[in-house]
Amino acid sequence: MRRVLPRTHGFQRPFGLWPEGFGEGGALPEDSEGFGEGGALPEDSEGFGEGGALPVGLVMDPIKISKLTFAYGEGELRRPVLRDVALQVHAGEVVLLTGPSGSGKTTLLTLIGALRAMQEGSCRVLGRELMGASEHERVRLRRSIGFIFQNHNLLGFLTARQNVAMALEVEAALPERDRLARAGAMLAAVGLDGHEDKLPAKLSGGQRQRVAIARALVGEPGLVLADEPTAALDKVSGGEVAHLLRDMAKSRGTPILMVTHDPRILDIADRVVAMEDGRIVEAAAA
Ligand SMILES: Nc1ncnc2c1ncn2[C@@H]1O[C@H](COP(=O)(O)OP(=O)(O)OP(=O)(O)O)[C@@H](O)[C@H]1O
Ligand SMILES: [Mg+2]
Repeated sequence: MRRVLPRTHGFQRPFGLWPEGFGEGGALPEDSEGFGEGGALPEDSEGFGEGGALPVGLVMDPIKISKLTFAYGEGELRRPVLRDVALQVHAGEVVLLTGPSGSGKTTLLTLIGALRAMQEGSCRVLGRELMGASEHERVRLRRSIGFIFQNHNLLGFLTARQNVAMALEVEAALPERDRLARAGAMLAAVGLDGHEDKLPAKLSGGQRQRVAIARALVGEPGLVLADEPTAALDKVSGGEVAHLLRDMAKSRGTPILMVTHDPRILDIADRVVAMEDGRIVEAAAA
């Protein structure tokens, strides 16, 4: 299912919180997406060239990857892990990435999440080309992405509310009181009313993943990346968490790319993409 979203979707964060450099008022800066590099427009530049700004009426794919190749190690130890990967995630779409252990799913997710540097090919995330991007640019992009991992990664000495509020710390203009209030509202939205002041150790696995979902979404990210968020959960809470994440993201129009081995949650997907040995092998409608 492909949803065409309102014109500002994916370009403007609510609360005016795009990190600097991401453009304001819905337009990307002139030098975005490969401008000024050799003077040529990328073939798939999606309407660039009209005054240098991206026409906001066009839906931009939040993830657009082509010819991505990646290897770990150097010299004789160099081992290719991703080969010639092409993948697109459309605005508002929920895409699941499946495949055998070691096929490269997490590696691909960390490249898309700007958590590691690209080596070859093109990977455009929220309109930014990651090939050749500096560490500084990657840090900025990461602020526009909500991450959810298999092991919730909550800080054990902070309450649920404080853990969620931490995701708003990059928003220096927001007073602590407002951060905690937004965190509380988000926790209520994921069904954790009354649990805000508990430490992670006092919550169930499913509740901890709900906190992780709240933390990933509270900053109104342009994209959510999740790596096996239900792997540590039983069937019922795994299903609940997956559906909650889908519903929360859909209601905000936030696209999700989720790695999962879990056949029980394939029904949340608009599309399922399979990887094998570093390649995308099939893309099926869910
Ligand atoms: N930091 C690393 N250094 C070297 N090799 C790595 C590193 N991380 C992963 N690999 C190797 O790269 C390949 C792909 O790993 P990756 O973690 O991306 O697979 P995956 O599909 O996420 O697997 P799983 O389903 O088990 O999580 C594997 O062969 C793995 O051993
Ligand atoms: Mg993995």
